[in-house]
Amino acid sequence: MDIRNKVVIITGASAGIGFATARLFAKNGAKVAIVARSKDKLNELASGLQDSLVVQTDMANAVSVKNMVKKVYGHYGRIDVLINNAGQGFDELVEYIDIKEFQYIIDLNLIGPLTAMQEVIPVMRKQGGGVIVNISSGLSKMHMPGMSGYASIKSALNTISLTAREELADEKISVSIVYPYITATNFEKNTIIGKNHNSIQDAGKQDEGYNSLPPPDSPGTVAQKILEVVISERAEQFVHDWLDGRK
Ligand SMILES: NC(=O)c1ccc[n+]([C@@H]2O[C@H](COP(=O)([O-])OP(=O)(O)OC[C@H]3O[C@@H](n4cnc5c(N)ncnc54)[C@H](OP(=O)(O)O)[C@@H]3O)[C@@H](O)[C@H]2O)c1
Repeated sequence: MDIRNKVVIITGASAGIGFATARLFAKNGAKVAIVARSKDKLNELASGLQDSLVVQTDMANAVSVKNMVKKVYGHYGRIDVLINNAGQGFDELVEYIDIKEFQYIIDLNLIGPLTAMQEVIPVMRKQGGGVIVNISSGLSKMHMPGMSGYASIKSALNTISLTAREELADEKISVSIVYPYITATNFEKNTIIGKNHNSIQDAGKQDEGYNSLPPPDSPGTVAQKILEVVISERAEQFVHDWLDGRK
């Protein structure tokens, strides 16, 4: 899709990958609806963009997600692209996963994106097409000790995305996944850490290849991959080719 003058929803736009993506898309002529909980950060971002809409939203709350899509549609009268990027990490060994904490990760990293998809699909259908990009993680292709809660939900997001892609192909609604690798954002700092954090670190370091991983990417590098996938509409976009081999 050519993104010039298109209406693009970017969740998790107050920081990190979403922030860089909002700036890149706006620079390339898109109208960006920027979504997160931190209104002040969104307003600051909006002050540097030509055509944007701030929508304060809790992506872990389905009602808030539905209201967000309504607001964007009410303001612009169309929605061309949805980028489900908001998310949070969760580190804990399987044995000790706290179900309440895990439920929050499910609500934020899976139900939020799914609800947003369900709200934009009828709009895109009416318009004759659209693009949905869900931000997954390279971890969804791995079995890294301590990461099962986070990785399993990203893996579910992969399956929902690629299945929706099949279901919606005839309606010109393209659904894609981008798999970032470790990216230099506050993601690690914001990760929910279970009580067995130290044992996870130890286990993780013993994982094959842990110490030979390449350095983190910049958020701008990932944003560029997200832009590429919106333009190409390809099913899956890995930020690193070596992750592609784990498909
Ligand atoms: N960084 C990495 O190494 C990495 C690697 C692979 C995949 N990813 C994925 O990339 C995506 C972006 O991560 P990031 O690295 O940019 O993380 P980040 O710097 O921690 O930013 C997370 C963004 O999500 C938003 N967010 C969190 N909880 C939210 C909620 N309940 N409602 C609405 N927005 C919420 C935050 O905004 P507010 O706090 O203002 O709400 C923020 O804008 C995530 O889906 C993550 O799983 C990251």
